[in-house]
Amino acid sequence: MIGQKEYKKRRDKLAKSLSENSVGILFSASYRPRSNDTEYPYRQNSNFYYLTSFKEDNSCLVIVKTTKGVKTILFVQAKDKQKELWNGKRLGEKEAEKIFLVDEVYAITNLEEKLKKFLQTSKNLYFDFGLEYSKMKVLKRYAKGIAVHQNIAPLVNEMRLIKSVAEIALIKKAINITKKAHHKAMSFSKANKNEYELQAEIEHVFKSNGAYSDAYTSIVACGNSANTLHYIENNKPLQDNELILIDAGCEYEYYASDITRCIPVNGKFTEVQKELYNMVLDVELKIIEMIKPNMLRNDLQKKSEELLCQGMVKLGILKGNYKKLIKKQEHKKFYPHGIGHWMGIDVHDECPYKYDNGDEIPLRKGMVLTIEPAIYIDKDDKSVPKKYRGIGIRIEDDILVTKEGYVNLSYEIAKSIEEIESLSLS
Ligand code: GLY
Ligand code: MN
Ligand code: MN
Repeated sequence: MIGQKEYKKRRDKLAKSLSENSVGILFSASYRPRSNDTEYPYRQNSNFYYLTSFKEDNSCLVIVKTTKGVKTILFVQAKDKQKELWNGKRLGEKEAEKIFLVDEVYAITNLEEKLKKFLQTSKNLYFDFGLEYSKMKVLKRYAKGIAVHQNIAPLVNEMRLIKSVAEIALIKKAINITKKAHHKAMSFSKANKNEYELQAEIEHVFKSNGAYSDAYTSIVACGNSANTLHYIENNKPLQDNELILIDAGCEYEYYASDITRCIPVNGKFTEVQKELYNMVLDVELKIIEMIKPNMLRNDLQKKSEELLCQGMVKLGILKGNYKKLIKKQEHKKFYPHGIGHWMGIDVHDECPYKYDNGDEIPLRKGMVLTIEPAIYIDKDDKSVPKKYRGIGIRIEDDILVTKEGYVNLSYEIAKSIEEIESLSLS
């Protein structure tokens, strides 16, 4: 639970970074139509949620900054019995005023008139440049005559880089539920069940533990399917003696978890799978060990490529001097992605990786990132010894940067071969 004072502090901080005589606007997310009159599940816009904790659509946060000071105004849907009958309860202005520590609350129907007034004396308009077209059109209509348009999203995204104690607690809660789900998958998997049955078990654990949603579409990829990075079909039978790559994490109260584990369908790793698995695991543990303030993510990336490349040479997957192989980027065929990414309200938190001057932002206390080295060997890759073909392995944990170094927030999720086998066979 994050208290309303924290949301107010965030708005105050954002207001500080706006120029004087400005209006900043953030909109809620819109419903996305699936077809005809059905919609995809609704999720609030991440930046709007970060600044308000308000979950309803058709709402708007306005920050007005003048020489006299800052005013924050929330626009919400007015109560409407008929609409609430169809689409659920609305908080309404009166209740919103009691809960949110903003200066004023109005019904969203007043937005146009109020905005016109605020914008009369304003020189800068801040809004999210990624806004959907319809909202953008309306905004531009209100904002005629304002010379400076600025993107508000990067300012909020930067604030989201450092997680507060309350945010970290929610991430931990999400990870704890995800732990249960992965452990369930380990004990549930069996030949001839289908990938989607495993997915259903995982997502059942999410929901029955209070995580309303997944943080991203679960990947349950048996055998060679693991070599498709964004495999989400999840519709093939589990084959005896294969590994299943499971990349699944729940979202708890708007905070993500992002965990990948690889588990044997029948509970026992083969000797060949063990060789590859332990090679990737060794790299993962070494990279996590490097995490501390001032470390650059790019150095983690380079080190992971170097270690994976060395490991591949040792196993005969790549041939030659590893430095030369790296120079020629030969390893990229087997490890084509990044070592990890920011995580928070979004699984790929939209926080910046670089300063405006292009330099990389170093790790700092309170950042949360994933570490996810991998090796993918396609079943048809004749350059690789036959025994390794058709195996894809990724191991992913969620790491908090601390003053001294790091905490692996997902350390309780079974990861060594012994741990996984013991859960799989239980
Ligand atoms: N689950 C998405 C990722 O690992 O980045
Ligand atoms: Mn990830
Ligand atoms: Mn993942």
